[in-house]
Amino acid sequence: MTWAALFPNVIFLMTTDELRARVARICWHHSIDLGQGIVTPGQDNSSRKLRRLKLPETLEGKSVLDVGAWDGYFSFEAERRNARRVLATDSYSWNGLHDWGDKRGFSLAREALGSKVEDMDIDVLELSPERVGTFDVVLFLGVLYHMKHPMLAVERVASVTAGMVIVETVVDMLWCGRPAFAFYVGDELGRDATNWCGPNPQAMVGMLRVAGFRRIEVVSGLRPLWFRYAKAAYLKWKRGYDFLGMARTDRIVVHAWK
Ligand SMILES: C[S@@+](CC[C@H](N)C(=O)[O-])C[C@H]1O[C@@H](n2cnc3c(N)ncnc32)[C@H](O)[C@@H]1O
Repeated sequence: MTWAALFPNVIFLMTTDELRARVARICWHHSIDLGQGIVTPGQDNSSRKLRRLKLPETLEGKSVLDVGAWDGYFSFEAERRNARRVLATDSYSWNGLHDWGDKRGFSLAREALGSKVEDMDIDVLELSPERVGTFDVVLFLGVLYHMKHPMLAVERVASVTAGMVIVETVVDMLWCGRPAFAFYVGDELGRDATNWCGPNPQAMVGMLRVAGFRRIEVVSGLRPLWFRYAKAAYLKWKRGYDFLGMARTDRIVVHAWK
């Protein structure tokens, strides 16, 4: 337990060296600028993802829920854009059962940024208005393809969305003109056995419609074929991912309003 956790209303100043040493002890997902010249060494290109999200420039007066927040890059960004309240939720990576991450990154970033982002440890399928309330803006970023029950997850997310949801996801089955899903039985997507499903864009839009969203816009769609092949070649070289498995997938961002 840190002093900051014991006394949340007191600001404890860290020296740059202390902060750098604490950052170095954590396995980061996000690249968060903590100030003092320190950026967390996450493997995620968080700023590139942010550009694709087309997050509203200002969130003044809005309540924001970040589902699957991990280190909290997008929660802190919502706060920076003047959201009235931000709740970051997660469960899987925060429970620290894996060597690739836990909640320490989120906690340290919040402390270093002097942030008031709230947090709750809760599974996506447990989200409900009774448990967390409803929010003007819900971020559902990089989580859907980890869901074994994707439609149920979208319904849970819809239940806590009062205004708009922003979904960022892997998409697969791109050659199929009808709504379709890839089902990942093993670790074939990114050598990660926690990946379960890859909807195609039509299935993503369809799930949002079935969950009660009326206006749905794909704001960042499929990248050109050369880009997907170049990315797949890079990931094959850098991380040993299956080339064809990566080349036939992409990522999209969808905005949807009730
Ligand atoms: C790829 S990371 C995405 C993190 C962040 N939202 C982003 O876009 O960079 C997926 C996140 O979803 C969380 N997650 C996966 N399954 C979950 C579940 N059933 N309930 C809650 N969170 C879950 C993981 O813990 C992880 O933090």
